[in-house]
Amino acid sequence: LKLGVLISGRGSNLQALIDACAAPDFPAEIALVLSNKADAFGLERAAAAGIATAVVSHRDYPGDKPAFEAAMDARLREAGVELVCLAGFMRLLSPWFVGRWQDALINIHPSLLPSFKGLDTHERALATGVRFHGCTVHHVRPAMDDGPIIAQAAVPVLPGDDAHRLADRVLEAEHKLYPHAVRLIAEGRARVDGDLVRIDGPVP
Ligand code: GRF
Repeated sequence: LKLGVLISGRGSNLQALIDACAAPDFPAEIALVLSNKADAFGLERAAAAGIATAVVSHRDYPGDKPAFEAAMDARLREAGVELVCLAGFMRLLSPWFVGRWQDALINIHPSLLPSFKGLDTHERALATGVRFHGCTVHHVRPAMDDGPIIAQAAVPVLPGDDAHRLADRVLEAEHKLYPHAVRLIAEGRARVDGDLVRIDGPVP
């Protein structure tokens, strides 16, 4: 399965996908890494792995989100992308773009959805006093951090945690979860059924 990975920054989840795809038995490969920021560190990670990169900057399309998204869409299609993976991509996508990639557009979010949609999830988890926190990979729908859940991983919230320690623990879980979710989709074992994803076969 050909992946397009959309980033805006650090790219540690991109790195986890690059590393997973390097395994001979992994059923996906990254065809393109696309960033909306020219200085995203993830672009260096992709280049170091010999993966094609592109920058489509929203700043080149002031006030014209349709043109920005059409440019991204064109790059992804030219590269033969079949599944778009958002990995720290910080622009909200329009219903048009989401519809163009219906059930072929996934995101990783640093909380156990539907709790803590949006930003600052670790601070909010600590402020709420939840004892478990985590991350979610889900299909993208027009509403932010909404859509059928493919996979989740939970981590404990420990006494003495601050947002940084908790974020590190969640991020470690993210780096395992994203390749796992991509594998389920690439193997045809995660099927969208209305608002849910049905999983076939064993899940570790
Ligand atoms: C991750 O926490 C991801 O869940 C969220 O943005 C962060 C991106 O980090 N959507 P990185 O760029 O993958 O290191």
